[in-house]
Order: sequence, then structure tokens, then C-alpha cells
Amino acid sequence: MSIVEVKELRKQYDPPKGVLAVDGVSFDIAEGEIFSLLGPNGAGKSTTISMLSCLLRPSGGDAMVGGNSIVHQAQAVKETIGVVPQDIALYPDMSARENLVFWGRMYGLSGDELKRRVDEVLELITLVDRQKDRVEKFSGGMKRRVNIGVALLHKPRVLYLDEPTVGIDPQSRRSILDGILALRDQGMTILYTTHYMAEAQELSDRIGIVDHGKMIAMGTHEELVKIVGGQSRVRARVDQDLGGMAGRWRETPGVEQVDVEEDEAVLLTGDADEVLPRLFETAAAAGSRITEINVSEPNLEMVFLHLTGRALRE
Ligand SMILES: Nc1ncnc2c1ncn2[C@@H]1O[C@H](COP(=O)(O)OP(=O)(O)O)[C@@H](O)[C@H]1O
Ligand SMILES: [Mg+2]
Repeated sequence: MSIVEVKELRKQYDPPKGVLAVDGVSFDIAEGEIFSLLGPNGAGKSTTISMLSCLLRPSGGDAMVGGNSIVHQAQAVKETIGVVPQDIALYPDMSARENLVFWGRMYGLSGDELKRRVDEVLELITLVDRQKDRVEKFSGGMKRRVNIGVALLHKPRVLYLDEPTVGIDPQSRRSILDGILALRDQGMTILYTTHYMAEAQELSDRIGIVDHGKMIAMGTHEELVKIVGGQSRVRARVDQDLGGMAGRWRETPGVEQVDVEEDEAVLLTGDADEVLPRLFETAAAAGSRITEINVSEPNLEMVFLHLTGRALRE
């Protein structure tokens, strides 16, 4: 069942002439799923998150979150969601714990319940040891974890995270991604935005690729890479008779195409894992040796390039 249903969402800033930041975007998120919006800066990801958080009124369209309309039932939507905004919003001169208590009160928590939730969340974001330290002394990654903790205090059913790993060291990044996967495993539904392809690939059950306010492709990683053929490219060099070797590889099961480009053979295959050992066996049987081999898996970069003619760089 879909817990988030976005229908033809639109946002034009400063109408009638302002940018159409979100231009008729539709997607659904199933309960317990991680759905990522992947797109370059300016694609409209944050504007979409702001509308789905009821912080920005759509110019058109609507979305149902937990069965409530973001346009007509904002309060009910806000109770369903936790939001980790792109820009960290914390009080720097308060401790991690004080920040959580402050935001917990904003969500209407108090007394023992507030204390218990703050303790649980500190555990979850692994900041129990540092809870009494002022947030201004924290690294970017630790601040981000407090931000995620704030969003989790009222036990939302759906969590939105807007580019939470930008500008964060690799170790904290890893811990944030693992935390998100753990939340998903506990049944949380997650809407994630990023311009990092590798993150979208690793985290997401499904991905929507956005560009200039439009959804240009949507599906699982596997479905998306099929847009570019779904084939891996293998480049190989051998120590002798490349032409002869290319001919034998052309007959090797699983190899779909072989071209010779200067001093290397370029092969296409739907299953590189299965084909690679066979390439070595075939070469050995012909008395040749592979001196260099390189596999490029089909990836979201290729999909974005294919659909837009532009590169989406990490
Ligand atoms: N408050 C605003 N007023 C006017 N234009 C805005 C505002 N916020 C964002 N934009 C514009 O809307 C487009 C989408 O921005 P944004 O949603 O922030 O994209 P992303 O989060 O994918 O980088 C961009 O062209 C951006 O310049
Ligand atoms: Mg943004």
C-alpha cells in the first residue's frame, strides 16, 4: 500500500514569471520503502520536500501522506512525518540533549515520555556519550545526527531526509546511511534526496530521477539501468593475436557483442560475473594471456546522460 501519493505537484516561485521549480511531479512510496529523488542542484528536490512537509504551498497538484492531503490536512500530515532539512537547524549553544528536549516540547512531548524519547533517540543516533556537549563543538556529521534525532522524536511513520550527507566526512556519512537502512528495516518509510548516484543506488528500493522540476525516469536501480541497455562493458587486452581472441570471445556464451578498438577488445554482456571467468578460460585455451581487463557496470550516470545529454557528476 502507498503511504505517500504525489499527484502532479507543481511549484512556481514568484508567479507569473518566476521559475517553475517543480513541474508536475507524481510518484508513490510504499509503506516501508526507501524512495530517493536523485537529481542535480536546482532540480527541485528541496522544493518538493518543502511542499510535502506543508511548509510551502503547491501552485498545483496535491499529495496524500498517510491518507491526508498536504493542502487540506496539513496538521495531520505534520504528525505523520519527520523532516531532516537540507540546512541544519539547531541551537549551537545548547547541548545535544537540550536541543532534543527543546524540539520534543515543540512536538508536544513532556515529562517522562519526553525524557524516555530523548534517551531512545540519543541511543539511535549514537550520541549518548556526547549528549551534554554543546552542539557548536560537534563535527558536521554529529550535528546532522542530532538533526535526524530531532526528526525522529515523535515517532513519525514517514521520514524525509534532504541531502543529509552533503559536506560530511566519510565515516559519519557511513553511519548516517547505516542508520537510515536500520530505520527502514524497522518499518519506517523514507523519502531521501541526493545528487550522489552511488548513495541513491545503495539505499533505495526505488529511485526517481529529477531534472528541471520534472520526473524523467523512475524505478528500481535495475529497471533504470535497463534504459541504457542493462549491459556491462568489458575492456580487455591480451598479449597476442587480439583479432583471433575477439573471434573466440564472440562465440563465448553470455557475450553479446565484441568490437576491437585499437589494442583492446570491447565486449558487452548482460552478466559480467558469469562471463569474466569464461573470458580467462577461453584465452588460456588459445594460449593467450589477458594482460588488462576492466569492467564498467551500467550505472545511473549513464542513465542520466542518456536521458538529458548532460553528465550528473558525483
Ligand atoms: N525561495 C525561492 N525563491 C525563488 N526560487 C527558488 C527558491 N528556492 C528555490 N528556487 C529555485 O527553484 C529551483 C529548484 O530549487 P531546489 O528545490 O532548491 O532544487 P534542489 O533542492 O534540487 O537543488 C531552482 O531553480 C532554485 O533556484
Ligand atoms: Mg536542495
